[in-house]
Formats: sequence, C-alpha cells, structure tokens
Amino acid sequence: MNPAPRMWPDISGIAYGGDYTPEQWPREVWDEDVRLMQEAGVDLVTVGIFSWALLETSEGVFDFGWLDDLLDLLHANGIRVDLGTPTASPPAWFFARHPDARVIDRDGTVMGFGARGMASHSSPAYRAAIVRIATELARRYGDHPAVVLWHVHNEYGVPVGEDYSEQSVQAWRGWLRERYGTLDALNAAWGTAFWGQHYGEWDHVGAPAAAPSVVNPAQRLDFHRFTDHQLLQCFIAERDAIRAHAGQPITTNFMANQSWTTDMWAWAREVDVVADDHYLWAADPEGEIGLAIAADLTRSVGGGAPWILMEHSTSAVNWQPRNVAKRPGEMARNSLTHVARGADAVLFFQWRASRSGAEKFHSAMLPHAGTSSRVWREVVDLGGKLDRLDEITGSRVVADVAILWDFESFWAQDLEWRPSVDVTHAAQIRCFYEQLWRDNVTVDFALPGHDLSGYRLVIAPAQYLLSTADADNLNRYVESGGTLVVSFFSAIVDENDAVHEGGFAAPLEPALGVRVEEFLPLREGDSARLTWGGSEVSSRAWQEDVVVTTAEVIARYADGPGEGGAAITRNRHGAGTGWYVSTRLEADGVRALLAEAYRDAGVEAPDHPAGLEVVRRRGADADYLIAINHRDTSARLAADGVELLSGATVDGEHDVEAGGIAVLRTATPSVQGGDRPADVNP
Ligand code: GLA
Repeated sequence: MNPAPRMWPDISGIAYGGDYTPEQWPREVWDEDVRLMQEAGVDLVTVGIFSWALLETSEGVFDFGWLDDLLDLLHANGIRVDLGTPTASPPAWFFARHPDARVIDRDGTVMGFGARGMASHSSPAYRAAIVRIATELARRYGDHPAVVLWHVHNEYGVPVGEDYSEQSVQAWRGWLRERYGTLDALNAAWGTAFWGQHYGEWDHVGAPAAAPSVVNPAQRLDFHRFTDHQLLQCFIAERDAIRAHAGQPITTNFMANQSWTTDMWAWAREVDVVADDHYLWAADPEGEIGLAIAADLTRSVGGGAPWILMEHSTSAVNWQPRNVAKRPGEMARNSLTHVARGADAVLFFQWRASRSGAEKFHSAMLPHAGTSSRVWREVVDLGGKLDRLDEITGSRVVADVAILWDFESFWAQDLEWRPSVDVTHAAQIRCFYEQLWRDNVTVDFALPGHDLSGYRLVIAPAQYLLSTADADNLNRYVESGGTLVVSFFSAIVDENDAVHEGGFAAPLEPALGVRVEEFLPLREGDSARLTWGGSEVSSRAWQEDVVVTTAEVIARYADGPGEGGAAITRNRHGAGTGWYVSTRLEADGVRALLAEAYRDAGVEAPDHPAGLEVVRRRGADADYLIAINHRDTSARLAADGVELLSGATVDGEHDVEAGGIAVLRTATPSVQGGDRPADVNP
C-alpha cells in the first residue's frame, strides 16, 4: 500500500510560528501580537485549539465573531493560519448535558471538569458534538484566505487514552466481535484457558480494569489496539467533516517523544501532512539524541516526506519535575536539528506566555519578560535564520540504515510480569540509536513488515512481538543480501502475546542461526563480561542461554549465569548476514558490534568530529549538509559548497562555532548513499 499523497500548506519557505491563544488577551494586545510576529518573521500560527467554549456557547449556539476578526487581522498582516478544532477540551455545558460521556480510568475514577481532556472516545454524544463543531468551522472558514491548514484536536491519546466507561466497554465488545467473529476465536487468541478466564457470553467480556492480580496480557494488548482505533475514528470523523467543506490539508499533532498510545504508522496514513510535538526530557542529559530519534520517527511514518514540527519550546516547559531552561543557542540547535531531519516547519507552544492557568510557567516565543529578553532576541534571530533556508524545503533526508519500531511491540512488551524490568523496548532502541547518532549514520525507522530492501542495514532492538509473517519478511531480507542485527528479547511472542511455538526467537532462526533456550536476567546492578576476540566488553541486565545452530560464535560470556555460552553470533544466510546479540551491551560493545555490522552491510560512517551532528538532505539539484555543533569548542566540517546562513563560500572545510549551526549547499555525491525507493512506508 502506498502512503497517502502528501499535501503541504500554502506557505513558501520553512514555516515559522506557534500556537496562538489571543482569546486569553484583550483585543488591543492582538495588534501588538501581529506587529511582533512580523518582527520575528512568524508566518504561521495555530489558533482555536482550546476555544470550544467560546465558539459554541451552548449546544448548537455558535459565536464566530471574534474568530472572524482574528482571521481577518492575521490575513491582513500576511500571517497564515493553521485552524484548530477545539475537541480536545469540550465545554462545561457538554459534560453537564452528557454526564455519561465522562471518561473513567482503569481504577474506576470518573474524570471531572476543570482541566482539559476529551470526553469518552466512544460516547455517541461526543462523536456528534465533534462532527458538529468541525463542520461549522469548515463551513465558515473553508474558503478563508488565511487558512492554509487544519489542525484536528490536540495530541490524541493524552491526557485521555484508555476509557473504562460503560460506553467504551460497549464499543469494545463490538470491536472484539468484529476482530474475532466468535467467542471461540477470542478465547483461543487470549488463551483464556489460563486462570479459568473462559468466556461463554459476549456480555461477560469486560475491559481490562484494575483486578486482584495481573490482567490477561492479550486482553490488555487488544484494549490498547481498541483505544488506538477509537481515537483514530474520532480523528477520521472530524477530518471527513472538514473535508466536506474545505480543501486545505488536514493534520493532527503526534507525540513521537512522549506517548506511544497511538500507532503513528497507521495515523500517518490518515493525515495529509505529518506533524509532531517535541519536548526535551530535562532528566535526559543528552536530550538532543532523544530529539533526533523523535524527528527520525516522525519523518519515517510519513514515508520520508517533509513534516511539520507543530510544537516545541523556546525554553523550559512546566510539567516535568524539574523544568530546565534552554541555554543560549539551544533553541536554535533544537529547531535546526528538526529541520535537518526533515521538518519544513518550526512552530512552538506558544506565541505569548499565558498569565493565568496551569501553563503560566511554560516558556513562549514572547515570554512574560517581553521583548527585552534573551528568549525574544533568539526567537527573532531564529526567524532570520530560517528565512535564509528557503531553498532546502522539499529536500529529503538520506538514510540507508533502518531501526525497527513497532508500536504493538511496545504495547505488549511493557506490560507487567516480564522477565526483567530492566528491559524496555524504548531503552533498547535508544541504546542502538545512540551509537548510530555518535557515528553520524542517519537512520530511518521501519516496521518489520515493510519492504526493507532499500536499506543496507536493519536493526531490531528487543522486537518482542513479531508475527511469523513479519519474521519471514526479515528472513527474506537477509537471504537477499541485507544485514540484520537483532538484540535479545526479540521474536518472543506472536500478535496475541503468545510465545512462538519452537521457542524464543525461533521464527528468526533462518536469518540468525540461533534459538534461545532460556532467559538469564541479571540481578539489579549486576554486570557481566564477554570475551570478544582478544578483549573483553561489559554488559548488564540480561543474558540468554543461546542454542547455536548454523551461526558462528563471535563473543562468549566470561561470567554470569550464561558463562561460557554464546553472547554474540553472526550467521550467513543466503546473500546476507544476521547478527544476534543476547545481552545488553555497554556503549563500547555496541560501538564494536555496529562497526562489524557496518562492514558487512557496506555502510560508511562519515568522519566528523565527535559532538558535531551532521545530517544530509537531498534536493533536486543539490545536497544540504546541516551541521549542529553540540560542543563548547568549534568543530571542523570537511565539505565544499556555500554556507547558507552566512552566504560564505566553503572550500574544503568549515568551522562550525561552539554551540553553532551550519547549513551547506553542496554537490550531490556521485556514489550516493540512500539509493532506495522513495517511499518505504507501505
Ligand atoms: C502539549 C500541548 C500544548 C501544551 C504543551 C506544553 O504539547 O499540545 O497544548 O500543553 O504540551 O508543553
């Protein structure tokens, strides 16, 4: 299946701006806003996201006067509008009228009013109300010249994802009937013979609410799928209501870095253009790596097409335990890293800091300190920088390595009662990605069922849930010449969270030449050593008892419960190679492992100084090298071309200043990495 055709909002160059909530301010402030937006080079603002109570003052009674004025004002000043539907925060009258539309959490708490968060995704009253307001907005503004994009809802899945209300449970039973057809099929898929959970009537099947012990994991996995499905149906209902009256592209904002409640691959097929919100985790000392992962994932789910950075922050957020402010230059580095990894729009939450409410300590483009502030000066400077990068829009990131990222595997793996709490899917992805990042090897993400033939190297970190069909796809990938690196705790269960027949990892035996007999998790804090050639490397958390069938043993456990057993193996299968690593390697081990895999795959790691992050975007007539210097000293980039931010000609080398950025237009190399089909997202 091809990805949906992508549409781009009608703006030239890299779009710049943010969420704009003028309803929180007196009318005279709006004039100052547009003047300052022009000063900063802002050309796109998102409005209306939380304005339902002001737009529909009671059921079916609308007041669009203030929004008419606002859109006209923005249009008159050359600022385009991403028009939000306000359905992430229904008004008080809605809940008063439809109390049964309130969400109930897993513990049975009924969610009250006074914060934000949608009503039950399965409530017929909520579905009717969202279609009504989306239709009215599209009818009224479908032809408004300021509106270039529609922004449905806000961040589906947070703060409301799973819902245990009666309406949700009814819908869940319908979804299960659709999926399984018969109760026999459901009982088999969920393995209900275990703990006597057999169902004899559909009405007895409940949501996996809090229970005395661990709830059936297959039921929980399905409830996750159901929740994602219901949320997506809410999006589709609004999208189609808008489409009936408006022709602009339609999107919603994903959260590649924060919440994996929704399956971004499936959602990306439903939007016209992919958009993401990104916030650094202050507790992560290398937040720029998490940022790069999120950006690469966002680009990948959209099949490589340019995407919109819908929100990020100019400085601190307000919702983490310690909200660390960005230091000078960091906002620009963050922004340009998103651009380097495929974003053609840089937007923030939010334009002007709110004086009241739960987010008053969140940074903004225009902070409480006003225009005589560092943040404002950097916002104006960033607008200027982006203006000089118009020509890179539409170019595409080049990657010939893929990491598998499957949301279903996340949902299944991170449930309770797994062999070790020290093994999570996200941490394993990060562990491999970090080394690729340090090696400046650009990565796409992919599903295990995708056509992977365009990638030289594919990495499967703790791909716990892997269907037999997807395992066959990976086996074929290796057979026809690919290099595959698989980490421990992969190919353990099928799509019903049932252990594969034949044992752990058995579906990948053709590619890997091993099976796993037993998991050997380590105690908290314990580490173990591996003998690898003449040297030793460390690992932690996990070992396995690996049965080697056709693979060559590359490293063995020097100690720990698996002492003497195979730790790392390499297997020739057809024209390709399958690596298996049965432990959680420390950084030096990952580096050594990937160096070997690069060799097998013919991947070349560019020789840039450590701490200089460099990504290549390929345009029709040139390549663009975007270099972000994370060091506090300057770093030398070897290249020829023109540095677009300064206009300087670069002949052989360019010094990127400490904490600085460079964007070079350079010739497309004659031997090109990333020669692969344009779209790998089926
Ligand atoms: C999310 C929301 C915004 C705002 C920011 C704060 O991304 O979409 O409305 O709450 O978080 O960081």
